[in-house]
Amino acid sequence: MLNIRVEKTTAPKAKPAPGQKLGFGHIFTDHMFIMDYTEGQGWHDARIVPYQKIELDPSAMVFHYGQTMFEGLKAYRGANGEAYLFRPDMNAKRANNSNDRLCIPRIPEEDFVQAIKEVVAIDKDWIPTEPGTSLYIRPFIIATDEFLGVAPSKTYLFIVILSPSGAYYESGLAPVGIWIEDEYVRAVRGGIGFAKTGGNYAASLIAQVKAHDGGYSQVLWLDGVERKYIEEVGAMNIMFKIDGKIVTPMLNGSILPGITRNSVLHLCRHWGMDVEERKVSVDELIEAQKSGKLEEVFGTGTAAVISPVGKLRYMDEARPARSPTSSDGGCAQTENIVNFINPIDPDLTSGSILYTGGGKHDDGGRGQRPDRREHSNAAPL
Ligand code: PLP
Ligand code: COI
Repeated sequence: MLNIRVEKTTAPKAKPAPGQKLGFGHIFTDHMFIMDYTEGQGWHDARIVPYQKIELDPSAMVFHYGQTMFEGLKAYRGANGEAYLFRPDMNAKRANNSNDRLCIPRIPEEDFVQAIKEVVAIDKDWIPTEPGTSLYIRPFIIATDEFLGVAPSKTYLFIVILSPSGAYYESGLAPVGIWIEDEYVRAVRGGIGFAKTGGNYAASLIAQVKAHDGGYSQVLWLDGVERKYIEEVGAMNIMFKIDGKIVTPMLNGSILPGITRNSVLHLCRHWGMDVEERKVSVDELIEAQKSGKLEEVFGTGTAAVISPVGKLRYMDEARPARSPTSSDGGCAQTENIVNFINPIDPDLTSGSILYTGGGKHDDGGRGQRPDRREHSNAAPL
């Protein structure tokens, strides 16, 4: 357990006004968590301090070789005024998987979660309550050795910052257009695709710019070897409803194992739906679209929440990502999940959805919406 020193701000910032458009990741709260690592000493000097700039030597290794990892999770405020975190233990585990791959020292899972809980508790009043908003939490580690040789750093900083945020996409929760990238690749097996680290995002920028210039929000990446199998989107995992089944690319080492992905798969299985985690080729997707079997496409992610996809572009051709014959306009599944996972009801908190499988609501994912509170094992901070 960490012994966290707390230094509160003497100059609190103005909080966003109720109803103010927050955007994503622009506004930061009054405090941040920070902790040092030194070889031989381990993680030490855990503290919560006023949000501030950090000073690093220009030779700090993170600037040169990208030895860094980050996480992303959210806090919501329940009707009882308490703060709830969405599955922070999963972020703690994934953080250490990233750390292992990047030769960054592990942080005990309980310390990772404690750091987040304590800083969120201090800035609890910053958790926005408008529908579609939350407190986005960004834990990250950077390598700080002042040295230009390529080697694992011997010193690091672990920092947690908090950002009251709204929708990640400018279009909010309206369907996004996705560009299937056939020139550049994001990651290969054996590389760092499964880790949450800056290099993956740096590698994605060129295609993202191309997609934006073409009028699309995000890139859908294909596998780095054959450019044949679908992997994931720039900031979310991807799911398809094909012929009544939920189909998503299996985790293969080059895809980020999304926590929202995991939650949605649990939820769909819990609803009694057929769920397939397997290789999905882009040819299969296009065939399904042409034959009308592609009923829905949606992305899953912490920042992106559940984002319906309205349009797919592949090889210079734009295609609707909806079944033309669907009686419900082809978005019932997405809406069901959105209604369940997005914290749009003031009396519900997303932190309460921690599925363990359990009994089935045999409604095929449509119609009746199970009460999240039935399955809740979340406790307020
Ligand atoms: N894939 C990528 C590349 C991401 O950046 C994210 C966002 O974190 C996801 C998938 C979704 O992961 P999660 O649901 O854990 O946020
Ligand atoms: C998240 O959803 O938490 C992410 O880290 C995505 C990020 C690229 C905004």
